[in-house]
Amino acid sequence: MTQDEQKRAAAQAAIQYVPIGAVIGVGTGSTANYFIDELAKIKHKIEGAVASSEATAQRLHKHGIDVLDLNTVADLPVYVDGADEITKHLHMIKGGGGALTREKIVAAVARKFICITDQSKLVNILGSFPLPVEVIPMARSYVAREITLLGGHPALRQGFTTDNGNVILDIHGLQILNPVELETTLNQITGVITNGLFARKGANVLLLGTDAGVETIT
Ligand code: 5RP
Repeated sequence: MTQDEQKRAAAQAAIQYVPIGAVIGVGTGSTANYFIDELAKIKHKIEGAVASSEATAQRLHKHGIDVLDLNTVADLPVYVDGADEITKHLHMIKGGGGALTREKIVAAVARKFICITDQSKLVNILGSFPLPVEVIPMARSYVAREITLLGGHPALRQGFTTDNGNVILDIHGLQILNPVELETTLNQITGVITNGLFARKGANVLLLGTDAGVETIT
């Protein structure tokens, strides 16, 4: 299977986790887009969706799926999203598409995070993929200096503004041996909105598209 076929297979497998009549949290990115396409086929069986980005909201709308404001939703049984890297402990790096903050908010509300990826995303140690950090623009240089003191090499994502009007620093050169600790440390730097480590609250289920089919890791 190609990488895209693996993504699509994982997205198809996620449909079994969608409860009838529920509001579903929907992530951002190419794998999440495959999931939206699958969700559209059963749209009459769900109440609607909460989107983790403007791009996802647009795609949901295009498919005729109701997009609800998270503030109006009391119960979100599942959140389905991709990842840039994930370990077998279900710790992730996310935010390659720059949607990390809204993704983390929707994931925080959801009872279950179903991660859908192709097999290239499964790693032993997080950090080969540069770790995104969303930062208030005026704090960019200060936050970059603090990250350098922690041993990382931050690079401003050029020409990119998040849906929240902020900038992204991508941290290169990390070998993240303790993702829970680093997630907390980075979030304590003044000016940081959030970072792309999803370790304090990781995924509950990984649906991994592989050449042999979809593997379920819990
Ligand atoms: C966006 C994300 C995506 O989930 C992540 O970048 C994976 O994307 P793709 O499914 O296109 O590989 O975190 O902010």
